[in-house]
Amino acid sequence: MPKQKHIVSGIQPTGSLNIGTYLGGIRNFIRLQETYADHHFFIFIADFHSITLPIEKKVLRKKTKELAALYLASGLKQENLSLFIQSEIAAHAEMNYLLQCFTYVGELERMTQYKDKSQKASEGIPSSLLTYPVLQAADILLYDAAYVPVGEDQKQHLELTRDIARRINNRYGEFFAVPEPLIPEVGARIMSLTDPVKKMSKSDQNEKSRVNLLDPDNIIRKRIMSAVTDSEPTIRFDPLNKPGLSNLLAMFAALEEVGVETIVSRYEDKDYKTLKEDLTERLIAEIAPIRERYHELVDSEELERIFDEGGKRARTLAERKVAKLKEKIGLGRKRK
Ligand code: TYM
Repeated sequence: MPKQKHIVSGIQPTGSLNIGTYLGGIRNFIRLQETYADHHFFIFIADFHSITLPIEKKVLRKKTKELAALYLASGLKQENLSLFIQSEIAAHAEMNYLLQCFTYVGELERMTQYKDKSQKASEGIPSSLLTYPVLQAADILLYDAAYVPVGEDQKQHLELTRDIARRINNRYGEFFAVPEPLIPEVGARIMSLTDPVKKMSKSDQNEKSRVNLLDPDNIIRKRIMSAVTDSEPTIRFDPLNKPGLSNLLAMFAALEEVGVETIVSRYEDKDYKTLKEDLTERLIAEIAPIRERYHELVDSEELERIFDEGGKRARTLAERKVAKLKEKIGLGRKRK
C-alpha cells in the first residue's frame, strides 16, 4: 500500500460540462485539495468510458482538452495533482480485463446506470456498457485510492468497486486499498432545469435542461429564468412536491457553500423571480472568471505539459500495480 494516500476520480469527456458536474465534481475536488492537502490526487479524463456509446472522433478529442482546461480553470491546484488522459495509460485496460475475471454478470446487470442506458440504446447494446463499472473499478484500484470523490449517481459503482477489491483481497491477501466514496452533502445531485426529477445531465438532448460552464451570460440568464418550477409560490425546500424550486435552492446553497436552510430563510418571504434573478447573478459571478482562464489554457503548451507529467506519474504506479496482480494470479513467467 502506498505511504502517501491517494484520491482518485474521473470525468467523461462527453456532452458539455455543466453546473451539475461542476458542483458535484470539479468544485468538490478543489475543496478536497485543501482538506486533504497531504494526499496525492489522480484526476483523469475518462475517455475510454466515453466510447461505450457512439461518439464522434473530433468531438472526443475536443472535449478531452476542454474538460481538462475547465478543471484547471476552475481552480484545481497543480501541487499534489496528476491530471491525465485515461486512454494514454494502457494499464487501465489491462486491469479492466483482470478485474472482469472477478466480477459477476448478475452484479453488472443490477447497475441502475446500465439499466437506464441499455434501455435507451437504439441499436445493439455494446458489451462495454455492461462492463463499464469494472473499468471504473480498475481506474480506482490501480492507484489504491483511499477516497473517491463523486456525485450521488456513482455510489453504486463505488459499492461494486469495493466488493471487487474485497473479493481479490480475500483470495490473494491484502492487495488493494478498499476505497471510500466522498459524496458532497450539497450539490451531490443537481437536477435538470426542465425536468427536475431527472439529474442534470451532460448528455440530455435538451440544451435548456442545464447551464453549461461555457455558456455566455445571456444564455445562463435565459436558462435559469425559464427553469421549471411550480405554481404554488411559497419558497420552501421540498424536493418531493416542489422539485424545480428545491433544485434551484440546492444549487444556490452549493454555490454559496452553505446549508440549504440558509438560502430558504433568505428568500422565504420573497418571490420566485427574485430568487431566480439572484441565482443567475451568483452563477454568472462564479462562471465568468472560469470561462476566461479556460480560453487561455485550452490550446496552451502548459496543458500539454500537465498531461505529460500527470500521465508519467500515473503510468509508473499503474504499471507496477498490474504487474503485481499478474504475478499474484500466476500469469506469465515468474519474475525474478
Ligand atoms: P460523469 O462524467 O458522468 O460525471 C463526473 C462527476 O460528476 C458527478 N455528476 C454530478 N454531480 C451532481 N449533480 C449532477 N447532476 C451530476 N452529474 C454528474 C458524477 O457523479 C461524477 O462524480 N463513471 C464516471 C466517471 C469515472 C469515474 C471513474 C469516477 C470513470 N472512472 C473512477 C470516479 C472514479 C462518470 O461517468 O462520471
